[in-house]
Amino acid sequence: EEQLDRIARLPKVELHLHFEGGAPPAFIRGLAKQKKVDIARIFNEDGSYAYRDFWHFLEVYEAATSVLKTPEDFARLCTAVLEESAKNGVVYSETFLSPDFCGGGDLGAWREYLQAIREAAEAAERDMGVTLRGVVTCIRHFGPEKAKRAALCAAETAGDWLVGFGMAGDEKQGKQRDFAYSFDMAREAGLRLTSHAGEWNGPQEVREAVEDLRVERIGHGVRAAPDLAVVDMLAERGITLEVCPGSNVFLGVYPALRAHPIDMLRKRGVKVTVSTDDPPFFHTSMRQEYLGLARAFGWDEEIFAEINRTALDAAFCDAATKEAVL
Ligand code: ADE
Ligand code: ZN
Repeated sequence: EEQLDRIARLPKVELHLHFEGGAPPAFIRGLAKQKKVDIARIFNEDGSYAYRDFWHFLEVYEAATSVLKTPEDFARLCTAVLEESAKNGVVYSETFLSPDFCGGGDLGAWREYLQAIREAAEAAERDMGVTLRGVVTCIRHFGPEKAKRAALCAAETAGDWLVGFGMAGDEKQGKQRDFAYSFDMAREAGLRLTSHAGEWNGPQEVREAVEDLRVERIGHGVRAAPDLAVVDMLAERGITLEVCPGSNVFLGVYPALRAHPIDMLRKRGVKVTVSTDDPPFFHTSMRQEYLGLARAFGWDEEIFAEINRTALDAAFCDAATKEAVL
């Protein structure tokens, strides 16, 4: 018990948090009411988000996001998201931001959204002690043309706060290599790269993200597990997996945490880290993720400390920022 308490209180580093996916349902419901948008269908009676499976989740996610309209809405969201992070002992977090949701891919509008979010993040850092950095993500099921606009927005605003580029969305549509142009543009602008792969598709998808997009991190990546050649490739190349165990179990990728491959991947030498993905959608938090893993696999404080060092190592921010947070 004491051990679990110490684990719950550890300072945590989170690498995989979708910004809009961090919106509490009450926050979205409140905005919808204020703006007179009817999205009652996306909520259960108890106020939680309602969806049947991952693909329905993506629709509900986009409906929820549709009430976030102005830069001020996103600034308020930033404060709400970071309050949760701070409560969970998160000291450093990287969040996925999508120009598609912030100004529709228009560069001028994107700059205003980014500025508002960044200011809210800096206030939260002063007030709550949690440091945030942004990773622009394109959305795979929106297609390669929209991804190019997202990459251009990312390239034009790359710097000490906007530190990475990535891809989220429906892995069953298109191929990693369809987005190579956008990832090349982002890389040339100095951005670090990550892509969702191996959440729904198998080992080959993970291999393609590494080989075709040359990413240094993978969102999820867990479905590489059945192919030890791919697992060993990840270990040899030092690719970091942004693993979201609670998300995977909630969405039915694995029947229970005990069946999750994170422990096997770690033992095989893959750099694994722990994140929440979209915490209110999956009824999770960083604290719950840690406690769940401690119970399922007997992980102790030492292992979590190592996981946090691995995460900070793989973080896309500069060295001075890293030194200041852990
Ligand atoms: N967008 C938000 N959450 C996601 C997830 N878990 N996978 C892919 N795209 C997402
Ligand atoms: Zn994700």
